[in-house]
Amino acid sequence: MASHDRFRIVGGTSLRGQVSVTGAKNSALKLMAASLLATGSTTIRNVPDIADVDIMADLLTRLGCTVKRAADTVQINVPATPSHRADYDLVRKMRASINVLGPLVARVGRADVALPGGDAIGSRGLDFHIKGLEALGAKAHIEHGYVIAEAPHGLTGAPVDLDFPSVGATENIMTAAVLAKGVTTIDNAAREPDIVDLGEFLISMGAKIEGLGTPMITITGVTTLSPTDHTTITDRIITGTWAFAAAMTRGDITIQGAVAEHLELPLEKLASAGAIITTTADGIRVKMDGRPQAIDVATLPYPGFPTDLLPMVIALNSIADGHSLVTENVFESRFMFVNELSRLGAQVSVDGHHASITGVKELSGAPVEAHDIRAGAGLILAALVADGETTVDQAFHVDRGYPNFAEQLQGLGAQVTRE
Ligand code: UD1
Repeated sequence: MASHDRFRIVGGTSLRGQVSVTGAKNSALKLMAASLLATGSTTIRNVPDIADVDIMADLLTRLGCTVKRAADTVQINVPATPSHRADYDLVRKMRASINVLGPLVARVGRADVALPGGDAIGSRGLDFHIKGLEALGAKAHIEHGYVIAEAPHGLTGAPVDLDFPSVGATENIMTAAVLAKGVTTIDNAAREPDIVDLGEFLISMGAKIEGLGTPMITITGVTTLSPTDHTTITDRIITGTWAFAAAMTRGDITIQGAVAEHLELPLEKLASAGAIITTTADGIRVKMDGRPQAIDVATLPYPGFPTDLLPMVIALNSIADGHSLVTENVFESRFMFVNELSRLGAQVSVDGHHASITGVKELSGAPVEAHDIRAGAGLILAALVADGETTVDQAFHVDRGYPNFAEQLQGLGAQVTRE
C-alpha cells in the first residue's frame, strides 16, 4: 500500500443502497493481543482486512506465536513461553501494540514494550497503564524508549482507581489481573463495547470477570486460561461513519451488521439533525431528505459521543442549517483536521477544545490530506457533498480503519476512485 495513494471524489451524489460492516478494528486487535494469555490455538473470527491486523500478527509472530489468516479468521498458536519484547519498529506503526503489555507481564513475568510515541490526534499517555500494573505488584520503569514491567513472582490482585476511564489502561489492567492471585477491582473503568468484547473473550478462556460495561469491573484471578474461539463485535465507528454519510448526502443507506445499542447517542444526534433511523432485521437504515440541521456535540468516554466520530460531526455541521458548537474532551489534537476541512470552504473556528461551526450551503472541492484514520473519513464525507472534485491524500490512513472504503462507496453510487 503506497503512502502516496489518494482518493479522488466528485461530490454531489446521494448515497443509496446497502453496506455491511466488518468486525471492529479496536476490538480485533485487542483480542489478538489477549490471545497471548493461553498456550495453544485461539481463533478470532470477524477480523477486518486492514493493515493493523498484519502488524499485530507480525508482533505476535515475533513474540513466538504462529499466526494464520484465512478470510476474516485469524488463528494464533501461542507457545508455552512467549518472548517478552515488543520492538519499536512495529509498535511505532500501531498504538494497539501496547496491549501486549498486560498479557506478557501476567504470562511471563516481564514485558519490554516500546513507547508508541506521538500520534496525529495528540499525546496519549501510558501513566494509567503503568500505575495499574504497579498496583498489581509489577515493578515498572521507562528506559531507552521502552516500558519495562516486571513481576517475576506473579501479580497480586488489588483495587485500581483510574483517574480517567481510559480504554487502553482498562484493557491492560484487565488482561493482567485475570492471571493475578486474588481479586482486582477497576474503579472508573472504561465501558466501551470493545471492553465488553474483550472481557467476554477472557471469560470464554476461563477468566472470572464481573461488571463489564459498568464503571466497576471485578476480576478474580485464575491460575491458567485456555485458548478459545471468539467472534469480534461489529465496528461501531464504521457504522457511525455510514450513518453520517447517509445524513450528509441526503441518502438512504441500510447498514447490515450495525448494532444500534452501541451508537445510541450518535443516532439520537443524527435524528435531531433530521435523519430517519429505523432498525432492520440485521442492522439499521438511515435516510435523510433535506438539509441537515446543525447539532451540538461534546465527545466523552462511552456511552458518551465517541471521539472517533468527531470529524464526521464537524463535516456534517459544515453543511448544516445553523450554527453549532462541537467540544472534544478526549484527544486535544483532533481539530488539526479542521484546517483541511476549511480548504473545502467550511466555516469553522477553533478555540481550545471547542469548534464553532457555521453551516454553508455547499462545500467546494479541493486537494486535502488525511492526517489520521477518522480525519480521512471525515474529509471523504465532506468531499461527497462538495461541488466538483476533491482529492484526499494519504489514503493509507483511511485504509487502516475502513476496509475497501472506495469500493463500498462506489456500491452506494458515489463517484470515488483510488489512485
Ligand atoms: C481512545 C478512545 C476510544 C477509541 C480509541 C481509538 C475514549 C475514552 N477512548 O482509546 O474510544 O476507540 O481512542 O481512537 O474515547 N490517557 C492518559 N494516560 C493513560 C491513558 C490515557 O493520560 O495512561 C489519556 C489519553 O491521553 C487520552 C485519554 O486518556 O486523552 C483517553 O485515552 P484512552 O481511552 O486510553 O485512549 P485509547 O485507548 O487510545
